[in-house]
Parts: sequence; structure tokens; C-alpha cells
Amino acid sequence: ETPEDMLNIADIEDHASRTLSNKAWAYYASASDDMRTKIYNNTIFHLVLFRPRIFRDITVVDTTAHMLGFKTSLPLFVSPAALARLAHPDGEKAIARACGKHGIVQMISNNASLRYADIVSAAVSSKQPFAFQLYIQNERARSEKQLREVVKAGCKAVVLTLDAPTPGKREMDERVARQETRAAGHVEVNEALSASSGRGKVTEGGVGRALFQGTAGDLVWDDLIWLRKQLPDDIKIVLKGLQTVEDVILATQQFDKTNGKPLVDAVLLSNHGGRALEGAPPPLLVLQELRMYAPEVFQKLEVYIDGGIRRGTDVVKALCLGATQVGIGRPALMALAGGFGEAGVSRVIQILREEIETAMRLLGALTLDQLGPQYVNTRQLDAI
Ligand code: FNR
Repeated sequence: ETPEDMLNIADIEDHASRTLSNKAWAYYASASDDMRTKIYNNTIFHLVLFRPRIFRDITVVDTTAHMLGFKTSLPLFVSPAALARLAHPDGEKAIARACGKHGIVQMISNNASLRYADIVSAAVSSKQPFAFQLYIQNERARSEKQLREVVKAGCKAVVLTLDAPTPGKREMDERVARQETRAAGHVEVNEALSASSGRGKVTEGGVGRALFQGTAGDLVWDDLIWLRKQLPDDIKIVLKGLQTVEDVILATQQFDKTNGKPLVDAVLLSNHGGRALEGAPPPLLVLQELRMYAPEVFQKLEVYIDGGIRRGTDVVKALCLGATQVGIGRPALMALAGGFGEAGVSRVIQILREEIETAMRLLGALTLDQLGPQYVNTRQLDAI
């Protein structure tokens, strides 16, 4: 099978399930408890229906978007996800190249399986924008050092993840860790772990738990002031994992007291792909609540979502409801599997590109600016 044989993201996931090691599959696919939030992240898109218009010239479609001051060819980015080398030796570098060729942003995980500087060395040009995702460490000096390194390596934005101060209960991951700890050992995973950040070894708690060792559990809004101090002025701050209207409003109310500038440039509505709190709201619902109860926030910062995006129509629906960019987590990791590497990730982006263009044509909206709530019926979403 080749990447071209994959017609959609489900094919990619299916191919990954057949080719990844048990442990990698369990780590990537797992989510908390009964995995209902992970499933709901995706199925909630089915509740939104389109309101397509006719008699429009659909010959030319333009998917050009913006993110943090950068132009992107699609309203799509790769969300930060740990340990890409469990799927392919090129790991995060392969994702970097695919993103570069397609002109979209890659957020590089704090727990990537390659060093940040090595990943960005795979950029297709010196202008390719990268963001670094941070988990603030108990030992702040460690995070300070990490930030110095990524700034030096040219990072354009820091994405601070806030929805997983502790990992959720990911039983698929735990179960496989137990089986393999007893049987063949766990060399590949530990190798990937040590390459990233020198965290603890995988024990019976699974990969997720090993990665979270050392992560700060005492963060409050004022820690943003510390973060801003670590970064040059032109580096943007994105908060990831907001799940309520209240917290997005609070994000707009944080200012740098030295110059009065807002501290937060963008928010990524996310529940960590269902891997943190089971029962958390799907990001699409939070987005709709924002439109209903605090529409002014869209003027103050950029709003993105991730979680359960598997089709171009999912992307277009999120854009109609006010998101300006949409992230994919598992699809990018799983696309690496079975020897696909960069070509697999490129295929995922290409599939979504074609699906987004088709959806826009059939909807009668030819640029992203035109997408808006007039193109969707959200009555079922509003009833939740
Ligand atoms: C993640 N996610 C994540 N988020 C983050 O901020 N830092 C991280 O290191 C990771 N690691 C990670 C590993 C794996 C295997 C997965 C599946 C996810 C969450 C990720 O950024 C994103 O929010 C979700 O993956 C989005 O949901 P989908 O697209 O996977 O459904």
C-alpha cells in the first residue's frame, strides 16, 4: 500500500492500526476512561448541517489563511503531539517537511522524540514558521533553558498547554505497557523518551504517565507574566486547552503591566483529543458558545480548535463558526506509520485540502473570509 491508496483520514488510521507496534498504537489511539470525549469530538460535527447556496461561480477557490501574522495555504496546522518516532524514524522531521511543502504551521511538542533544533533543521526554507508547545516544569529553570533554546532556533510562537496538568486515565496505554513490561521489554519507547527530554522510563503506568513526570501542577494566570518575560516581544503566546467561555474571556484580560499589551495572542480550544478529562466539552461546542455569549473575543485574539477533525467539511464547519485555524493531532502521527513518513503526512494534508476545496465549492463560498454562520444550521448544537 502507498500513501496514494489512502482516500481519507479513516484509511490512514486503519493503515496505522495494522502497521504500528502495539505500544505505539495504544499510545496514539488512547484517550481517557471510556473514550467518549474522543469520539464525541468528532461526531459532534455531524450535528451541524450546511446551508449551501446556488448560482455562484465556483471555478476558483482560495483557501489562503493566516495564523499569528503568517500566511498559510490552508486554515490547518499540525497540533503538538509527542513521540512521533514511535511511528517512523524521521518522526517530527517528516512532519516538518510535509508542513513546509504545504505551507502550514507545525506545533512541536514539548515531548517530541527529536530535539527541537534538529526538527526545525528539516524546514524547507528558513522562513518556515514553527511553534513550540510548552509544558511548564516544576523546575522552572528547566523550562527557561528550553525556551532559550527554541528562541535561538527561531521559534515564532509558544503554545502553552493547560488542559492536562496531569494525564487522564488512558487504559489502552496502561494495558499494553503492563503486557509488554512483563514480556519483551520496552526499548523503542524508552529510546524515544530519552531523546526528547530525559524523562522517566516507561513503567506499568504507560507512556502518558512517564511523559508527565516533572510537569508543574501549580500554574495560575500570573504565570503568564513569567512566560512573557522569557520571550522576545515578537514571539507570540498561544494558550492551548481552553474549554469554557469564562477562561477565554479571562485570557483576553491578561496584560503585560510594563507596556499594557495583551499577553495572549491566540487560544486553541481543545480537550487534548479526549486524553484529559472524560466528559469535557467538544471544542466545536465551546466555539459555538463563544459566538453566542462572548462574540467580542474574536476581535481580541485568534481562536483555533482541535480534536476530532477528520474531514474537510469538519474544517469548514469550524471556520463558519468563527475559528480561523483548525489543528490535527492523531492523523499526522498515524500518517507516518508503515514506512510512509513524510509522504504519509503530505497525503493527509492533501486529502484535507481537496476535501476543504470541494466543501467550499459545494457550499458556494470561495474564500475563507466568506465563511460564516449564514452557511450552517446549528440548531442541534444549540440544544446541547
Ligand atoms: C497529544 N496531544 C498533545 N498536546 C500537547 O499539547 N502536547 C503534547 O505533547 C501532546 N501529545 C499528544 C500525543 C498524542 C499521541 C496525541 C494523540 C495527542 C494533544 C494534541 O495536541 C491535540 O490536542 C489532539 O491530538 C487533537 O485531537 P485529534 O486530532 O487527535 O483528534
